Amino acid sequence: MAEETAQVIRVLGFAGSLRRASYNRALLEVAKGLAPPTLEIAIFDLAEVPLYNADVEAAGDPSAVRALKDAVAHADGVLIATPEYNFSIPGGLKNLIDWLSRGDDQPFALKPVAILSASAGPVGGARVQYDLRKVMLFMNAQVLAKPEVFIGMAGTKFDAEGRCTDDTTRKFVTDQMAAFQRWIAAVGRMRAGA
Ligand code: FNR
Repeated sequence: MAEETAQVIRVLGFAGSLRRASYNRALLEVAKGLAPPTLEIAIFDLAEVPLYNADVEAAGDPSAVRALKDAVAHADGVLIATPEYNFSIPGGLKNLIDWLSRGDDQPFALKPVAILSASAGPVGGARVQYDLRKVMLFMNAQVLAKPEVFIGMAGTKFDAEGRCTDDTTRKFVTDQMAAFQRWIAAVGRMRAGA
């Protein structure tokens, strides 16, 4: 009997924070380590994406924007780990979404998306997640509803090397990644009209 080969699912990860020791950047690595073996997560660094400017866009997308659009278009899903800035979406992440929202080839349309957030405070980024979900709704993305992952008091849950030391957090992330794999398959069936 022929052995069935499990299909690899390719996910693109964005961290909404640019800082080197970001908890949210570390969270993407944690998700990478805890995801099912067939779910591969590649991380896109948004530091090179310029500020959105319609004049620049009219002259042609900058190379970092083109690379970003292609990477999202070719990914089976997008994973966003973000902090909350002033109760909402950090400017760098919103800027990236603004670039992607332009043009007929808007790559978030019907794209499976999962969101997690880590913050230094107790609320774990609950407020940014709902602003981000609203924006992704306009992008016509297919955002995983549950399980939600909010990591509050992140300073107590990661060590100096960015490893997650909290078993409960690791379990939340594991469960979300398994659900995300199922969600990507479900959206794929929906898109295929099955
Ligand atoms: C914050 N922080 C923050 N935390 C929070 O829970 N709610 C908030 O509204 C804000 N607002 C905010 C604004 C700005 C400009 C900064 C720089 C920070 C604190 C934030 O949770 C903390 O800095 C995290 O460590 C940021 O995430 P990264 O960089 O570790 O991924």
